[in-house]
Amino acid sequence: MIRSSTRLIALLGHPVRHSLSPYFQNAALSFLHIDAVYLAFDVRPERLAQALEGLSTLGALGTNLTIPHKEAAIPFIDNLSDEAKRVGAVNTVVFNELSTVGYNTDVQGFRELLKRNRISPEGPIFLLGAGGAAKAVVSALSDKSGIGIACVNRSRERAERFRDWARDQFAMHIDLVRWECFQEGKERFIHRAEGVINATSVGLTGELVKLPWENMASLRWVVDTVYSKGRTPLVKEAQKRKIVAVDGTDMLLFQGAYAFKLFTNKEAPITVMENALLEGGKNNRP
Ligand SMILES: NC(=O)c1ccc[n+]([C@@H]2O[C@H](COP(=O)([O-])OP(=O)(O)OC[C@H]3O[C@@H](n4cnc5c(N)ncnc54)[C@H](OP(=O)(O)O)[C@@H]3O)[C@@H](O)[C@H]2O)c1
Repeated sequence: MIRSSTRLIALLGHPVRHSLSPYFQNAALSFLHIDAVYLAFDVRPERLAQALEGLSTLGALGTNLTIPHKEAAIPFIDNLSDEAKRVGAVNTVVFNELSTVGYNTDVQGFRELLKRNRISPEGPIFLLGAGGAAKAVVSALSDKSGIGIACVNRSRERAERFRDWARDQFAMHIDLVRWECFQEGKERFIHRAEGVINATSVGLTGELVKLPWENMASLRWVVDTVYSKGRTPLVKEAQKRKIVAVDGTDMLLFQGAYAFKLFTNKEAPITVMENALLEGGKNNRP
């Protein structure tokens, strides 16, 4: 029940209507009888600072941040966790009495996805994308030295910044591969690829990320960080070829579970959250 004591937890994004977070965060709050409610708000980039200030003034417990606010929010947050500093992106902000603290739980979300699906990357891996999700992926894999990651990104400039970031943060070497070269299967090492991780936004609205399947005979697994009821177009294509393939649902679930703990100081009820997420996925109509 919503009362005058009910606290707010927000999700800020633009757009935000596709998000499944309200389904499973509210299910968890209600299951544990926590007097709080989780609501999504579509906030334009130019209003982000005001939105954060407003939430803090209203005594919100915290907020999740999604596209396009994860990096842009940093100047408006007082303190960052080490993980958020390394990644350079924040997806969870906790409002304490006197200050705000930013975290990045996407990294743990991706680790849990690998663990749960028994994917243990050995490399070489082709990582598609060089944005916030790609940074979370590399951070999660940073303890596997020498794994061999090639980043395939549409814009070369962002790919170069990404390579420099991985070198500076983790002393990791990332090879850069042109998007067209990869898609046409022209990259020299493509036949040795063990795994592909899609960390671009392609697939969010049903588009297919094209892979050069015929040149990837060693491919064992595909992870799509995009989520869509377990079967994004990329996941379907991989499964047709009998390749282990998972979408980003587990990453979403676990980044949310870690955020829940930061907001409430309580262990997240994973099964309750997962059931609500799957149910929400069936009913969500952006
Ligand atoms: N499952 C989860 O919990 C979870 C968590 C975080 C993110 N994600 C997924 O990750 C995706 C990316 O999020 P992000 O935060 O990394 O966003 P971002 O920082 O805006 O990066 C977007 C990336 O996608 C690439 N891209 C966009 N449109 C493209 C196109 N048409 N063709 C090729 N590349 C394209 C961009 O390449 P350019 O540099 O060339 O623009 C960039 O590398 C999201 O859409 C979401 O589905 C999932």
